[in-house]
Amino acid sequence: MSQVKFYSGENIPLELHKVRVVQKLHLVPIERRLEALYEGGFNTFRLNTTDVFLDMLTDSGTNAMSDQQTGAMQVADDAYAGSQSFFRLQKAVEEVLGKKYLLPAHQGRAAENILSKAFVKQGSLVPMNYHFTTAMAHITQYGGKIVELLYDEAYKIKSSHPFKGNMNIEKLDEVIKQHGAKNVPYIRMEASTNLIGGQPFSVQNLRDVRAIADKYGIKLVLDASLLGENVYLVKQREEEFKDKSMAEILLTMTDLADIVYFSARKLSSSRGGGICTNNHEIYRELEPLIPLFEGFLTYGGISVREIEAMAVGLRETLDETMICQSPRFIEYLANSLDAKGVPVVLPAGVLGCHVDAMQVCAHIPQSQYPAGALAAAFYLVSGVRGMERGSVSNQRDEYGNETYSDMELLRLAVPRRVFTLSQIKYVEDRMAWLYENRELIGGLKFVYEPPVLRFFMGGLEPLGDWPQKLMAKFRKDFGDSL
Ligand code: F0G
Repeated sequence: MSQVKFYSGENIPLELHKVRVVQKLHLVPIERRLEALYEGGFNTFRLNTTDVFLDMLTDSGTNAMSDQQTGAMQVADDAYAGSQSFFRLQKAVEEVLGKKYLLPAHQGRAAENILSKAFVKQGSLVPMNYHFTTAMAHITQYGGKIVELLYDEAYKIKSSHPFKGNMNIEKLDEVIKQHGAKNVPYIRMEASTNLIGGQPFSVQNLRDVRAIADKYGIKLVLDASLLGENVYLVKQREEEFKDKSMAEILLTMTDLADIVYFSARKLSSSRGGGICTNNHEIYRELEPLIPLFEGFLTYGGISVREIEAMAVGLRETLDETMICQSPRFIEYLANSLDAKGVPVVLPAGVLGCHVDAMQVCAHIPQSQYPAGALAAAFYLVSGVRGMERGSVSNQRDEYGNETYSDMELLRLAVPRRVFTLSQIKYVEDRMAWLYENRELIGGLKFVYEPPVLRFFMGGLEPLGDWPQKLMAKFRKDFGDSL
C-alpha cells in the first residue's frame, strides 16, 4: 500500500516526505529566456541553470537524496583499496539485487562501455527491447549493431497497454535464428524503457526472454537504471504480483538476468554505477577492465561518499512510498494534459511526462526536428527545461545519413521528491497554453553537429523568427507576468 485516498475522490498524489533543504530557483523574464536560447544553440542541454526555472531535463543525478543517504555519506571510508564503503555497497547489492559479484563503474555508460568492450565485436548483433542513446553508442563503437524488438503497441502514443516495454518474443527468436546465436553476445532488456516514454516490461515477458536466451545459450543483460519504477508498475499492473513486496518482485526480475548493470544516478543516488552478476566466469572476464577504465575495484571512479549513498539508496528503492512519488506525479501531469487535449504518452510511464511533438508540431517535418523545436518553445514560454527525445537524439547511420527516430518526444522529467504539486500545475498550464498556440512553433536546423551523441552539445538555429513571434503572443496573453 502506498497511496492515500481523498474523501473528495480527487486523485491527488500526496507527498509522503517533507522538504528540509531547499535551493532557490530562477524564473527569469521571457526576454532573457529568448537570449539564453540563442546563447545555448536552441539546445536545452546548453542552458545555464541561472536561466532555468524547473529543471525537467532529467532525473539523472537530480533525484532528492534522503536524510539517511546524506547521513551515511559522512562515514565514508576513503581508502584507495579495500574501502569499507565498497563492502557496504556490495552487501546492499547482494541483498537488493541478489548478485554477489559487484564491479563498480563511475556511471551507467561506463558500465555499458565495459560490457561492450568485453562482449561486442565486429559483426555482433545485440537485440534489445529498445535502445538507450549511450548503450547504442558503445555497442556501435565496438563494431556491433543493435536491433529493437518491441511490439507495435509500444509506438502508439495513446494506449492502454500496461507493458509497452515488452520484448517481441517471436521476433527475438527469429532474429537470433537468422543472425546466428554465436553472433549475439547478449540480449539487453531495459527496465522502464527510457526512450519510448519510460514504459515498463512485465515479469512474464522477462521470463519469456529468459527462455529464448536459454534456448540459444545467450546471456541476458538487464539495464536496471530504472528498475525500481518498473517493479512498482509490475506491482500495480501485473495480476500475479499485486500482493508481492517490492523486494520479492525485484529479486524475481534480477534472478532472470545473468548480468545486471545500472546507472546509480537514476537507480539509487546521485552518482555512480555498477555491473553485478552471480556468474564467476563473467566476473573474471570483466574484472581487469575496471582498473583500466574506471579505478580500483573498490571504488570504480565513484567517490566513496557516493558509494555510501548508493548503498542506502538501493535499500530505499524497496520503499514503495518513496518509489511511487515520481510515477504518481507523472501520472497526474500526463492525465491532466491529456484531459486538456495535449497529446502525451499514455499510459503514463516513469522518469517523466512525454509530450508527443509529432502531433503538437504536425506542421514541422522530422528533418526540422519537431521535438527539439518543442523543447525550445516550451522553455521559452515557461522557463521549464525539458529534453528532446527524438531525431536530434538519434545518431546518423554509418554512411552519414540522418536517421529519423520512431517517436518525437519532449520529455519533462520528474525527478524523485524534487518538485511540488503547484509547480507541476504550472507546467500543465504553460503546456496547455503552448498547445493552443502550437502553430507559432517553427523548425530548427543544425549549425554545429558533433559526430557522436550530438544532442548533448550540438548547436541549432531556428528557421525564421518564430521564437520572436511566440514571445510576442506570450506578452499579449500574459502581460507582464514572468
Ligand atoms: N541506461 C538507461 C536506461 C539510462 O536512462 C541511462 C541514462 C543510462 C543507461 C546511462 O547512465 O547517465 O549514468 O551514464 N539516462 C539519463 C537520462 C542520462 O537523462 O535519461 P549514465
